[in-house]
Amino acid sequence: MGQTTVVLVLAAVAAQSVGAVTFAVPGKVGTGSYSFAPLDPAPLGVSLEFFTFPSYITNVTATSQCLENWRALTGVWPPIRIGGTTQDRAQYDASTSAYVVYSVAKAADAPMTLTFGPKFMTLAGTYAGSVVLGLNRAKNNIQNTIAAAKVAVAEIKNLLAIELGNEPEYWVKDKQPIASGTWNSATDRASQNDWNIRVGSAIEKTNIIQAGNWNDSPPNWGAAGLIATENATVSQYVRHYAHHNYPGGSIQKLMTHSTTAQNIRAFNADVAAAKAVGKQYVLGETNSVSGGGAAGVSPTFGCALWTMDYTLRATSSNISRIYFHQGTVGNCQYCFWGRYSMGSPYYGAYAAVALMAGAKHIAALDTGTTNYAAYAAFDSSGAPVRVLLYNSDYYAGSGTRSSQSFTLTGLTSASVRAKRLTASSALSRVDQGGDLSFGGQYFNNVTCTVGGTEDIETTVVSGGQATFSLKATEALLVYLQ
Ligand SMILES: *[C@@H]1O[C@H](CO)[C@@H](O)[C@H](O)[C@H]1NC(C)=O
Ligand SMILES: *[C@@H]1O[C@H](CO)[C@@H](O)[C@H](O)[C@H]1NC(C)=O
Ligand SMILES: *[C@@H]1O[C@H](CO)[C@@H](O)[C@H](O)[C@H]1NC(C)=O
Ligand SMILES: *[C@@H]1O[C@H](CO)[C@@H](O)[C@H](O)[C@H]1NC(C)=O
Repeated sequence: MGQTTVVLVLAAVAAQSVGAVTFAVPGKVGTGSYSFAPLDPAPLGVSLEFFTFPSYITNVTATSQCLENWRALTGVWPPIRIGGTTQDRAQYDASTSAYVVYSVAKAADAPMTLTFGPKFMTLAGTYAGSVVLGLNRAKNNIQNTIAAAKVAVAEIKNLLAIELGNEPEYWVKDKQPIASGTWNSATDRASQNDWNIRVGSAIEKTNIIQAGNWNDSPPNWGAAGLIATENATVSQYVRHYAHHNYPGGSIQKLMTHSTTAQNIRAFNADVAAAKAVGKQYVLGETNSVSGGGAAGVSPTFGCALWTMDYTLRATSSNISRIYFHQGTVGNCQYCFWGRYSMGSPYYGAYAAVALMAGAKHIAALDTGTTNYAAYAAFDSSGAPVRVLLYNSDYYAGSGTRSSQSFTLTGLTSASVRAKRLTASSALSRVDQGGDLSFGGQYFNNVTCTVGGTEDIETTVVSGGQATFSLKATEALLVYLQ
């Protein structure tokens, strides 16, 4: 990460700040009044839209380095999921030597129909991290899906799970064949159960299906309802339950911490239902605003902060993995990176990965009801290793920027180091030359390599306490050890 400049920050409280918010850092996992969640080795991953997955891997330079930056932090390649709307427009063609075959009027369009060949699976098999593969259910051609699933099992050595269908609640609107008669959450559950058994038995694999995959809100479309209909025959094939989520709204609303905490709470019952049957619950496809994102929201620094906070609120709530969707290359407001430019949300994702890297547990230290958040990560010995602080007060670049003091108690070292995630405004965009940085550093366009000089702040601990000042619309990652 290049040269290191050490800046000593005195524990003085900025003049304009109101009273400090105080968080007690538990000395050990499982102590105090907090809820602790176990962490996956790589909880943050990406979902690559089905038709454009080969482009991301073979024709977008940033992809490998952007994933490698997270691997460098955690030691584990981030998980990927291949799927999305075009998975239910795709049919397997054993005879094609191409990854994908389709035609579109404009490069920015997603195809209405496409085929893919065995090489698609071979390419997915070259990825060193885990792969979840989304296959077609909507076309109601189970033999084609089984043929594709067999090649997937043979070619993808890190295949974690297969999905059968994407967002089935929209299939009536999309005029998909399987939904031509009665189609509602009950018919979908029966269909999922039937396909899970038939595909799972055809490929001779149990514990292989990532079930669910709805975007509409639970409980009507949700894991608890599905689980209630599953007998042991179906259940043996299911590995995880997944939901999709695009909270949307204005950037101010989106990045506000209490909004995010409330959004994640909507999944609590489904997470608990999955846990009760011993299975993981994931956000299988998610991002800020549906349909590729919104220009005034998704590419901004505020959205980077949302990405960070949302990921950490989800993992703190026992959601095992979060797959951020990456859509059409060159036509994607929420994408973390593109062919020519980085996307702001990548910075927030990076900070979230940096908090959780190598840790075994996480806890939210705040109640989720204010603009101020704190998360603590714990290592395998149970000791707290890092804390992330977030001031979600909104600052859009004009007028006085307020600041807020955060006090941490229960600290055991003489001083702590920290890296700041900042920019001049919630509306700053890296793709428009905005000044986003994490610990003073940035990510280069095209290559995704780290640029700039690392800036570490050191804060003295006194009586087990340290106080940090965070400007409105800013986050700070504190290293306790
Ligand atoms: C890679 O992307 C460029 C830019 O869109 C395009 O011109 C080229 O055809 C693509 N190459 C492949 C192999 O897809
Ligand atoms: C289990 O459920 C499946 C599909 O929902 C059904 O076809 C099968 O008959 C059920 N098995 C038993 C033993 O009830
Ligand atoms: C997450 O699961 C753990 C058990 O693994 C439990 O103790 C904890 O309360 C759960 N957290 C939440 C927020 O539900
Ligand atoms: C990245 O590309 C954008 C869009 O061209 C540009 O505005 C920005 O200055 C570039 N950033 C860096 C760090 O070169």
